[in-house]
Formats: sequence, structure tokens, C-alpha cells
Amino acid sequence: MHNLIPINSPLFLSGDSISEKPEWNVVFGNTNPLVLEIGCGIGDFLVAMASRHPEFNFIAIDFYNKGCLKSCRRAERAELANIRVVRDEARSFIRRCLQPDSIQAVYINCPDPWPKRYQRKRRLVKQDFIDLLLPYLKTGAEFVFTTDFEDYGKDVASLMAEQPGFENLLEPELWLHDIEGYPRTKYMLKFMAHGKDIYFIKYRRKSIIQ
Ligand SMILES: C[S@@+](CC[C@H](N)C(=O)[O-])C[C@H]1O[C@@H](n2cnc3c(N)ncnc32)[C@H](O)[C@@H]1O
Repeated sequence: MHNLIPINSPLFLSGDSISEKPEWNVVFGNTNPLVLEIGCGIGDFLVAMASRHPEFNFIAIDFYNKGCLKSCRRAERAELANIRVVRDEARSFIRRCLQPDSIQAVYINCPDPWPKRYQRKRRLVKQDFIDLLLPYLKTGAEFVFTTDFEDYGKDVASLMAEQPGFENLLEPELWLHDIEGYPRTKYMLKFMAHGKDIYFIKYRRKSIIQ
């Protein structure tokens, strides 16, 4: 059992201390729409986005304690109140802590690629994850996935193209290697420095009634 460095930040929530489906408007003190970042790492993307968009409340999830600590510190330095950093596993957090039809955008940047063929079943973004996420998204919610790993990028591009509940915002392309103005993450910068392409995939939740 590792000793976790305590995180004494007003922006931090540990998953097991959050009540089931909390009133996020009470947590944030306003009714602004919720944005989710899954696997926030050191919080660089989170802080860039939350600074640009004070009209949204950002919930950043990571099960890596040190990442949560760094994300909280970064958010506090930027004096942002529209952020909560949650230490939890993303799927269990979604099931336990979100209300259906409550999320305005989801960002997943450079998730663990599990590169070996026998490891791929451990990847986060697969059909079961999309099925889990869908009911929590509001109509018009953005779903953005980025990866430095070609095989993961192409798999998620094909997976999303098959989803009747989503429309591709990058049409006619299934992916791009950049989206203007999209904040770079630590992992993106690391892989770009090695000359690797990043795969950006961007979809929107369609209206249920078509
Ligand atoms: C490769 S890092 C990328 C970090 C950051 N998004 C970036 O692009 O620099 C993946 C992050 O996702 C977190 N992570 C992976 N699977 C997760 C899950 N199921 N629930 C919560 N966090 C997860 C890891 O702890 C790690 O911090």
C-alpha cells in the first residue's frame, strides 16, 4: 500500500468522499454547465481550458494522486474557482457521481495507449465506454479524444464513425493532426518533440429525437 501525499486543496475531491450524484451546482456555487476531463495528468489542459472558459465548470478526473496534486496546485496558482480535481477511476466516477444528461463536453487527452496487442482490451475508449458515457451527455455535448498512438487513434476514429448518437465535427476527415487553438498537453508535447503525429477526434452528441 503506497502512502498518498495528502492533497489539502479546496479544489480537490477524493472519489470515495463524494456522495452519490452530488449537486454539482452546490459544489461549484453556480449552475454553469459541466465539462469533464478524463485523465487530466498534471492539469495543463485543464487550467488552459478553465481560464478560457469561466462560463463552464470543469471536473477533472485522474486516479494518479501526484497528478491530482499537481493539477490542484496549477489551478490554485491560476486562481481558478471553476475547477474540481477528483481522484477516482473515470468509469466508476461517471456511474456514481454524475446525473444523466448533465455533461456539456468531455475531453480525453493521450490516454494510456496499452500498445501491445494483448493489452488493448484495457484501453479506456471502446464501445462499452461510449455506451456508458452517452446517457450522461447533453444534446450538443462535445466529445474530444486525442492520442499520440496511431493504432488507438484509428480504432477510436472507426468506433466513433459507427455511433448513431454522435456526429463528426471534423467531416469529411475522421481525424486531424491538429485543431487550431487546442491546448497542448504534456504528453502531446513530448510525442510531438519526437516527431509523432497526434490524432484529434471530435464528435458532437446528437439530439435524441432526429
Ligand atoms: C498518458 S497520461 C496523459 C495525461 C494528460 N492527459 C496528458 O495528455 O498529458 C494518462 C493519464 O490518465 C490517467 N488515467 C488512465 N486511466 C484512467 C482511468 N480509468 N480513470 C482515471 N484516470 C485514468 C492516468 O493516471 C494518467 O494520469
